[in-house]
Amino acid sequence: MGVGNVGATFAYALLLSGLAAEIVLIDANRAKAEGEAMDLNHTVPFTHPTRIWAGDYADCAGAVVTVLAAGAGQQPGETRLDLIKKNAAIWREIVPEVATHNPGGILLVATNPVDVLTYAAWKLSGLPAERVIGSGTVLDTSRFRYQLSQHFGVDARSVHAFIIGEHGDSEVPVWSSANIAGMRLPQFCAAHNIPYDQQVMDQIFHQTRDAAYRIIERKGATYYAVAAGLMRITQAILRDQSTVLSVSSLIRDYQGLSDVCFSLPTVVDRGGIEKVLRLELDPAEIERLRHSAEILRRIIKSLELDGIIN
Ligand SMILES: NC(=O)c1ccc[n+]([C@@H]2O[C@H](COP(=O)([O-])OP(=O)(O)OC[C@H]3O[C@@H](n4cnc5c(N)ncnc54)[C@H](O)[C@@H]3O)[C@@H](O)[C@H]2O)c1
Repeated sequence: MGVGNVGATFAYALLLSGLAAEIVLIDANRAKAEGEAMDLNHTVPFTHPTRIWAGDYADCAGAVVTVLAAGAGQQPGETRLDLIKKNAAIWREIVPEVATHNPGGILLVATNPVDVLTYAAWKLSGLPAERVIGSGTVLDTSRFRYQLSQHFGVDARSVHAFIIGEHGDSEVPVWSSANIAGMRLPQFCAAHNIPYDQQVMDQIFHQTRDAAYRIIERKGATYYAVAAGLMRITQAILRDQSTVLSVSSLIRDYQGLSDVCFSLPTVVDRGGIEKVLRLELDPAEIERLRHSAEILRRIIKSLELDGIIN
């Protein structure tokens, strides 16, 4: 749903993966959805037998996953939270339609601000919280692991580190458990005679957090990495993989925080959210996570006051 930069790139990644038998593209701009479906269909002889077509809400029926990527993206200088008014209005239109036509499916939210819109999708759809997932900090975690891998000279897949909280300016790096081969980063440095400099680590986090701004200044939007992240989440669902991913979902009593969506390492399987892991954090990380949750809760409250959700 929403076949712009993010939706179309995700559809392409999904087609290349061979995971899907059918991909339906739905967009308010019907011609755009049709054009993307035509282009993608011409890829099939090189890839996998897959039925791809431009459809409407009724075509969501029976879908295992509906990815919501409709709505406005950030303009240069705009924060993700600035998008809430525009995209909440779109949410009211599309989420009840998708849920009505596909009450048994999973919603995977990509549109920003993704945490608040995941919460709104849960409320507006009436689906169980386990089946409403936001891409959350899956992308930020990937950016973080990439930056750390460049610094430490190891494969990004061998760096284990999470960004949690808001997918946005208040996100939180979890240094306390970041590791390579089970060695926390200061230990890894000590063992290999590399200086450990917290200032350099902070710079790595800032590059991670601010990456979207830097990319949008240069090319107007970001889409490859988020599409790969959406693909990874979809794969965990379709293949029932029980993969730990930093997706956003409804938080229930973690560090005293409830009734808000944000990211924590979470087990994702065929049913959606299997379990949100109760990550151990140090006191400073808890404080930062509380701050992040408060910001998100405030925006949720404003949607409640405006009558958009109740
Ligand atoms: N979660 C993440 O990590 C992440 C990363 C990058 C971008 N995003 C977000 O994804 C969203 C989409 O970004 P984009 O670059 O693809 O934008 P885009 O403008 O290229 O595409 C948005 C599409 O949504 C469609 N649309 C708008 N209203 C609709 C409606 N009511 N029903 C159906 N379709 C509708 C538009 O016609 C357009 O094709 C933005 O909110 C952006 O901030 C999220």
